[in-house]
Amino acid sequence: MIKRVHTRAFSNIALIKYWGKVPGGDNIPATPSISIALRELSTETEVERFDVGEDRVFINGVKATDKDTERITSYLDMWRELELIEGNYSISSRANFPIAAGLASSASGFAALAKALAEFSRIKLGKRKLSQLARRGSGSAARSVTGGLSAFPVGKDPAARLLIDARRLSYGMVAITVDSARKKISSREGMEHTRQTSPFYNKWIKLGAQDYKEMLRAINLRNLTRIGELMESNTLAMHSCIMSARPPIVYWSPATIYIIQKVRSWRDEGLDVYFTIDAGANVFVLCMKDDMDLVASKAEKLQGVVKVIKSEPGGGAEVISRQ
Ligand code: DP6
Repeated sequence: MIKRVHTRAFSNIALIKYWGKVPGGDNIPATPSISIALRELSTETEVERFDVGEDRVFINGVKATDKDTERITSYLDMWRELELIEGNYSISSRANFPIAAGLASSASGFAALAKALAEFSRIKLGKRKLSQLARRGSGSAARSVTGGLSAFPVGKDPAARLLIDARRLSYGMVAITVDSARKKISSREGMEHTRQTSPFYNKWIKLGAQDYKEMLRAINLRNLTRIGELMESNTLAMHSCIMSARPPIVYWSPATIYIIQKVRSWRDEGLDVYFTIDAGANVFVLCMKDDMDLVASKAEKLQGVVKVIKSEPGGGAEVISRQ
């Protein structure tokens, strides 16, 4: 019997955003999404099974807060209720990037956890099932199970599917992290508040479905200009919807807008670069792998920038070791 499992999953950044859930469902997104996994942003998780006592959760070497512990133990409860696993577990999760800073930590976190729990499962779980189970922890985690360039359609019990393997992608991303004193509102809270109060929410849901189809076509054609322009429009539409909630949520800081303008000016100078922003102030730049060094060196010189991370695409969730 397996006792201890060590897994890794990469974080992902959406080109077409998931924002909003189907009410009353099992964490079912109301918008389809498309993302690229990032090799430099990962979470490693060690899961150990024991039969007496309670579940224990550690994040980055320290005991998790009550809120995080509750989210993870109720996730384990779901696996136990589905009779996939039994017993109790010690979960130790480490991310190599700041947790909950708009760098998609729940995506890699729940994908790594689901991958580990699958090793303890009574039945063998395929990729599709694993992606569905990861989604129930965090929507974006469904896409970190498959990695590379993944599409995540809407539906009754949706799962992500791999469109293009990481090794075959010629794009990369440069994460530009900025100073942000703002208190973070989680994606989960932010999207529910948007659904309940934004006058533009229904329009956003319709737009998301259209952008998704259009993005699939642009990806098929490997048309970076079209992919990038669509990604920017979809990002700005999501943030407009978020900002129109009442009371409003503004995830950006002044540096966010400054970087958006810089990316557009680099493009005017002939560099093929496009921005996107998740539920935070940091900016991610999509470009050809060959342009990442140049983009990073330009980004490092900008005021308000804390850290710049260049990343090639990453693969799907994987087992590092099992005992
Ligand atoms: C802005 O996957 O974190 O990053 O399902 O509630 O855990 P939950 O939400 P989460 O939301 C991600 C929102 C986003 C866009 C995206 O990654 O598609």
